[in-house]
Amino acid sequence: MSASNQQVNNARFNEATQWDANKKHAEGVGKAFDAIQRYIPAFADGTSKSLDVLEIGCGTGLLSFQLAPHVRSLVGVDTSDATIAAFNAKTTALPDPSAANLAAVNVLVQSADDVYLQGAAAALALGRGESGKDLPYRFDLVVSHLTLHHIPSLGELLATLKDCLRPGGMLALTDYEDFGPEAIAFHAESKRPGVERHGIKKGEMEDVIDGVGFNEVRVERAFELRKEVEAAGGGGKREMDFPFLICVGKK
Ligand SMILES: C[S@@+](CC[C@H](N)C(=O)[O-])C[C@H]1O[C@@H](n2cnc3c(N)ncnc32)[C@H](O)[C@@H]1O
Repeated sequence: MSASNQQVNNARFNEATQWDANKKHAEGVGKAFDAIQRYIPAFADGTSKSLDVLEIGCGTGLLSFQLAPHVRSLVGVDTSDATIAAFNAKTTALPDPSAANLAAVNVLVQSADDVYLQGAAAALALGRGESGKDLPYRFDLVVSHLTLHHIPSLGELLATLKDCLRPGGMLALTDYEDFGPEAIAFHAESKRPGVERHGIKKGEMEDVIDGVGFNEVRVERAFELRKEVEAAGGGGKREMDFPFLICVGKK
C-alpha cells in the first residue's frame, strides 16, 4: 500500500467504531466462517483444535471471535489502531481474559519474523504452557476476510503469508469478486479512497497464489452477499448481489 493510501485507509477504519453494528458486516463474516469450515479439512475431520491461525486484517475481531473456539490459537493483525482497540476490549471482556486463545496486534506484517507478530504468538504459547522452544512461531492456517482489496501488492503479501505458514499449512482468504465494472458499487463513493482494487479477480488470485509456490490452489465462488448500494448517477439506493471468492492454497 502506498504511504498515502495506508494513511487514508487507517483514518477510515479508525473512524469505523460502528463497524460491528452493521448487520451486513456480521452476515458476510458468518458466510466467510462457513466457507472456511467447508474448504479447510481440519474443520470437517475434527482436528481444527490443533490449528494455530493468523488473520490478516482482523479488524474488530468479528471473524476472529467466531473462529477462536474452534482452533488452538489465533493471532490477528491489523493496521488500524481503532479496530485493534475494539478487538482488545472484546478480549478484556471475556470471562477469563488471561485464558484467551486469541490476541491482536497493530502491525503491517511484511516479514514472518516480524517482532510484534512473534511477540503475540509467543504470549499465547506461554499462556498455554509452552516453553517457547518452537521459535520462530509459524501458523497452520492464514485467514482474511474483506482485506485483500486493500492490499497494494498481493504477490508480496502472499509470499509473506507463505513464510508465515508451517509446511502443509493452508490459506483461506475471502473477499468480494471483481466480476466487472459493476463491482465498484460495493463501496459508496465516499468510501473508495484507500481501496486498492474493486474486488479480487479469480484468474489473478490463482496466478498470484500459484506464483509464490502454493500447491492445491483453488479460487472459487463461495457465497453471495446482497447489500444496499448507491443508485447509479447518485441519489437513492438499490440492492445488489455481490459474489465472494475464497482463495485456498497449501504450503
Ligand atoms: C473491510 S475491513 C474488514 C475487517 C474484518 N476482516 C471484518 O470482516 O470485520 C478491512 C480491514 O483490513 C485492515 N487492513 C488494511 N490493509 C491492511 C494490511 N496491509 N495489513 C493488515 N490489515 C490491513 C483495515 O485496517 C481493516 O480493519
